[in-house]
Amino acid sequence: MYSDKVMDHFKNPRNVGEIENPSGVGEVGNPVCGDIMNIYIKVENNVITDAKFKTFGCGAAIASSSMATELIRGKTLEEAWDISNKAVAEALEGLPPIKMHCSVLAEEGIHKAINDYRKKQGLEPWAEKNPHSHDHSGDSTCQP
Ligand code: FES
Repeated sequence: MYSDKVMDHFKNPRNVGEIENPSGVGEVGNPVCGDIMNIYIKVENNVITDAKFKTFGCGAAIASSSMATELIRGKTLEEAWDISNKAVAEALEGLPPIKMHCSVLAEEGIHKAINDYRKKQGLEPWAEKNPHSHDHSGDSTCQP
């Protein structure tokens, strides 16, 4: 059911933990399954120099957070903002359709962490380009 990459990132997740004095934190949850993901970022000169996560959730959510933190490290805020949940799932060599929404948590977590950073800088939050993919209402596909 899961690719080797998903299993690898589930069994050996990268960047687990918290960043002390993070530049931004994004906490997101899926109300259907109750899974919670926290993404912490450190930003220097508009570049994400460190990213960590703590996820209380299913294996696909853990693998997605692990891959997402790998993908955003070293990226500018603009580049990190453009990383979609599909990009996270592709980097994991695919997720079963029923688990795609787990990767949405990672995209949302990145966005929230970036906007938390922007808020702390006194900047306007960036708007979601595709708010529909973030709407979990009526999402009955979330299976732990
Ligand atoms: Fe809820 Fe994966 S995030 S089952």
